Order: sequence, then structure tokens, then C-alpha cells
Amino acid sequence: MTERVATTNRATTGIHEGCLISAAQLDVAEVSRILSLANELESMGFKKRAKVLEGRRAALLFYESSTRTRTSFELAAKQLGATTTLVSDKSSSIEKGESLKDTGLTLRALGAECIILRHPSSGAAEMLARFTGLPVLNAGDGWHEHPTQSLLDLRTMLSHGLGGELGAAGQVDSRTLAGKTIAIVGDILHSRVARSNALLLPKLGARVVLCGPVPLLPDAAEEIGPGVSVERDFIATLQQSDVVMMLRIQKERLAGLELDLAEYIAGYQLDEERLKKYAPKALVLHPGPIIRGLELTAEVADGPQSAIEEQVHNGVAIRMAALARALGGKKVGKKKKKDDDSKPVEKKGKGERK
Ligand code: CP
Repeated sequence: MTERVATTNRATTGIHEGCLISAAQLDVAEVSRILSLANELESMGFKKRAKVLEGRRAALLFYESSTRTRTSFELAAKQLGATTTLVSDKSSSIEKGESLKDTGLTLRALGAECIILRHPSSGAAEMLARFTGLPVLNAGDGWHEHPTQSLLDLRTMLSHGLGGELGAAGQVDSRTLAGKTIAIVGDILHSRVARSNALLLPKLGARVVLCGPVPLLPDAAEEIGPGVSVERDFIATLQQSDVVMMLRIQKERLAGLELDLAEYIAGYQLDEERLKKYAPKALVLHPGPIIRGLELTAEVADGPQSAIEEQVHNGVAIRMAALARALGGKKVGKKKKKDDDSKPVEKKGKGERK
């Protein structure tokens, strides 16, 4: 194990070059590589795919609850032939007070070659990367970032034709989303998903409109980066949107904020009437978990404009690409030979809405 750590390929920044900590670290060429790799891995026969990370070891280190991210990372690693182990704050020595650093070093000593981390503190993923020298994949750190979520959101938009044929094929550039407006609505303040999307999508030419009331969306949010603006009026936001991404109201993070939920629902809930009247062609996204009856209604969540389940589905391909990128998987990103075996994984909803 010591030998493997010593030979770990480190980037000049001091963290492993396979890390995925922030959407900000990705230039458009790298985004294109990840999207193309996701397509390649998804369409590979399952036997060939299971050799990509055969025998490699990934640890999932989760200090917060998760359904989508944890499961999709685990399924992605297993489809690539890697073994996984889950360490949760609820059933490990973290409960006894073991630090993030010591937990990371312990996982490394046990043979983990990559750590997928979810943590309530912003910056935890980068710290873990520096402590261990391992590739760390940020599965959500506090209010900071959730980069694989923004990549799977982008893949979902592209599969609905927002970036044309090239975009759907995973080939993107700085004009792929030119002229498109993506609204992100709700609890922006606490949202790592909003931040990662606001950093990622303008790199492809999109306008990102952040919408919500002052307690959940400070004016300073416009400073996230170029191409990002703040709009308080939900109807005006809907009228200009090609994509409406609704966010969960994070009740667990509302303490001390002056927010009346009934007023919030009156002003910002996405219901069928508003959607049909003001954004009848927009794609509706939500990173989940959704709270039906709060930020959106059940009719909208289950309706024809919703691509929420497709987002979840796209998580597996994106996370396969993130893992292969992190661990330098075999036989990926190269010209395909005639494939070995069987059926590729079913690809849901490509170019069509449910
Ligand atoms: N989107 C997302 O991060 O969901 P989970 O919290 O279920 O992983």
C-alpha cells in the first residue's frame, strides 16, 4: 500500500489530478472529455465495462444522508469492476470522534485508491485530497459544491437537445448552450448544486438566472461568476427559461432565517398552472430529494416536462466517467474495437421526454 501511495500521480496544485472537487476546476475541453467518456462507458458491453476498473478499490465516505449520489457512485464503481466499501458517520469510528484526516488516512492504509466524500463542511473534499494524496470525488461538501450533480444535470439538458447533435454526443464547447437560459429557483443560499451549476453552465455559453426571495438568495450571488444574474420575480424568470431547475427548501438549514413557508409557496412554487402559462416548453429539473407540495407540485414532478428521473439515471454514467478519470481506467477514451458481448445498459429518455 505504501508503494502505491508513494507512486500516486500528483498534480502541481498538491492534489491528485484525478480529483473532482469543483466545477470551477473544469475547462470546457475537460467537460467534453467527461461527457464523451460517460457516453462511451454507458454504451460499452457489460463485460468490457467491468474490466475498466477491475480490481480497483473505491471508498465511499459519507457524513450526510444520501440516496441518489451514494447509490449511483456505488453502482457506477461496481459496473466498472471496482470494489467499494461504505463508511458512514453513523456506524464507524467517526462516531467516537475520529477526525476526517485520520479517517482518510485509515481508508488509504486499508487500500482505498479513491475516496468519494460527502461532508457537511464546505472545503472538506479539498482537505481530504490534501491529507491523503488520493483522488477525491466531491459528492457534496456543505454549501460549497456538488460537481458530479452539475455534470449529470448538463448531460440531461444535452440529451433533450439543448446543445444540438454534437451536445447530445458529449462534444461541447463555449457556444454549446449559447442563447439558452437556465433558471435555478429556491434555496440558492444553501445549495451546493446551484453553485456547481452556476459555475459550469456559463462555460458553455448559458445564462444562469438565480431566482428566490432575499433570505434564500443574497444579491451577492451574482458574483458567483460571469453569466449569472439574480431575479426575484418567479413569473418573469419562468417566461425567459429553457430549463427550470427547482431546489428543495432545506428545512434543516432554515434556523434563524425569516422565511414564511406559506408565503414562499405562494411566490415560488412551480405548479401546473404557472408552468403551462409561463414556461410551456421548458425542461423541469430537480436534483432531489423533492418535497412534493413545497417547491413543486406532484403534477409538475410527474408531468411531461419533468426530466427528474432522467437526471437520476444520468448520475450513473457521469459517475462512471468521474471514477475512470480518477483512477485512470483501462481501455477508455480510445477508439472502440468491435465490442465483446452483450447488451449495453438501457439509455433512458435520450432526446425525448417521459
Ligand atoms: N442530488 C443529491 O445529491 O441527492 P442525494 O442527497 O440523495 O444524494
